[in-house]
Amino acid sequence: MCGIVGFTGDAQAAPILLYGLERLEYRGYDSAGITVNSGAGTLLTEKASGRLANLAVRTDNGTTLRGTCGIGHTRWATHGEPTDNNAHPHVASSGKISIVHNGIIENYRKLKDWLLDKGVKFHSETDTEVVSQLIDYYYEGDLLNAVRKAVYKLEGSYALGIVAADEPSTIIGVRKEGPLIAAYTEDAAYLASDVTAILKYCRDVIYLEDDSIVVIKPGSVTCYNKYGKVQNLTPVTIDWDIEAAQKGGYAHYMLKEIYEQPRVLRDTLAGRITEDGGSVNLSEAGLTREILRSVRKVHIVGCGSAYHAGVVAKYQLESFARIACEVTLASEFRYSSPVVQPGTLCVVISQSGETADSIAALREAKSLGVSVLAVVNVRGSTISREADYVLYTNAGPEIAVATSKAYSAQVAAMTLLAIALAEFNSGVNRESLLAVLGDLRKLPDLAEKVLADVAPVQLAASRYFNRGSVFFIGRGLDYAAALEASLKLKEISYIHSEAYAGGELKHGTISLIEPGTLVVAVALCSKLAEKIESNIKEVKTRGAEVLAVTSESLAGDFADSGDIVITVPDTHELLTPLLAALPLQLFAYYTALNNGCDIDKPRNLAKSVTVE
Ligand code: AGP
Repeated sequence: MCGIVGFTGDAQAAPILLYGLERLEYRGYDSAGITVNSGAGTLLTEKASGRLANLAVRTDNGTTLRGTCGIGHTRWATHGEPTDNNAHPHVASSGKISIVHNGIIENYRKLKDWLLDKGVKFHSETDTEVVSQLIDYYYEGDLLNAVRKAVYKLEGSYALGIVAADEPSTIIGVRKEGPLIAAYTEDAAYLASDVTAILKYCRDVIYLEDDSIVVIKPGSVTCYNKYGKVQNLTPVTIDWDIEAAQKGGYAHYMLKEIYEQPRVLRDTLAGRITEDGGSVNLSEAGLTREILRSVRKVHIVGCGSAYHAGVVAKYQLESFARIACEVTLASEFRYSSPVVQPGTLCVVISQSGETADSIAALREAKSLGVSVLAVVNVRGSTISREADYVLYTNAGPEIAVATSKAYSAQVAAMTLLAIALAEFNSGVNRESLLAVLGDLRKLPDLAEKVLADVAPVQLAASRYFNRGSVFFIGRGLDYAAALEASLKLKEISYIHSEAYAGGELKHGTISLIEPGTLVVAVALCSKLAEKIESNIKEVKTRGAEVLAVTSESLAGDFADSGDIVITVPDTHELLTPLLAALPLQLFAYYTALNNGCDIDKPRNLAKSVTVE
């Protein structure tokens, strides 16, 4: 995610802003910038794509921008490539307002058109610039008033830092879902995305509440709620060290990223379901209705978890969109002389966008003359640049080697594709569309509910952490979820496990089941509940212990057969893998924790496999 820093006080701002941005580098970014108020009615801004060092060089470590009040930003690109021009801060055409932003302005296109009609000139591709120009449009000498008017028009999730040339020592912060903190000392005050940026100066931190605005001046922080009423927020004393703070207080980046998934789902769905909730809009990816209508088959390629997201999508595309779908490991696709029929849309799924096998598969697909859609997390990555269409997953940077939030974002993005293809291909009826889209919009809240109840998962991990091997079984979409659950356990706990389609056990693998063998049954598909239940009985009679992951409405079916039963809320059949993933990620996490494994950096693994 992007990083925000603000300083106003009795020292030069630029070096303090650069230091704060360095502390936020762990969040991942692709450009950076700062604005300093000269104190003489002008705003001084420098921005640089690439590493923060480029900005430090451009500002001679902050010495070329003189002033004691300013804002800084590290950008993780969402709208607009990672270029100097798209980097933050964004200064309004008047030169009088500058802002930094973390989040997504969902209605930026509508606002941009409105401002363009009023003659405003834009100079970037970002959603953020709309906010800067909007505040400037309303600014008549009172920054707080202009910010209130502009924010009233915004839709989406955002954290903002704002300065105005004519208010030399004031910074305004705005929080709507995006994290933002403030702090003050006797003669200074700070704004930041998280505490790591300011712990060197101050440990008494104010966590801004949602829908709030904060006015920061040297020695003071005044918070207002959405009704404009002053909030008396008590500062919290932070006793974390910097590293603990970068993990947001979580023990590992992986756990932090597991808990980011509700926000990641919101951000990946944001702006892609029409306002009436009845349709999917993937035009930002270049996928127009005409292109979607022309798709006769989908061929998905990916590696590891990205491949598993593709297996989920296969079930969704064939069962809901009635479109034939093949899923191939990228490392196999590139050497298998694939036959790809005309009218096929090749989809390359990749978090990093730099996986060598997936790049090669993309190039192989293009050499066969088919169009390629990239479902990718990193802007400017090779796969995003070489694909014909790009649907970004808005997971933000993923630090842990074992993916969690990026996988869920991939599944969410592919779910949107399946629904869009269903709408334009199989003529699925409107009730079905409304039903699945309605549940999809509720999913982030359901994910929060699942993540809030971690006790059953911790119990399971405490009981099973020392098993020599584990079997994951499921049918249909549950089998796809089981594939990813098995990989998660293997890669961070080093316990061997295998995922099997439930109906496949009797064709060989059941010979491995003996007293004490752990079998994790993923059972959220109501149509196949009886079938998986008989598979559970098969393994139980051979002495296996069963951890069942099921839905609230099916829990009764497994109460007797599951030694431990973990339930998730009911949702549309098509969406169950998105909820099943959460307890299964946590099971892998706590199992690895109990085994003392290096969870964020598992042995032998790299975050992006850029070699064959
Ligand atoms: C998943 O936890 C692993 N980190 C790995 O399987 C990963 O999904 C795979 O290497 C693909 O990476 P990509 O998504 O960056 O292409």
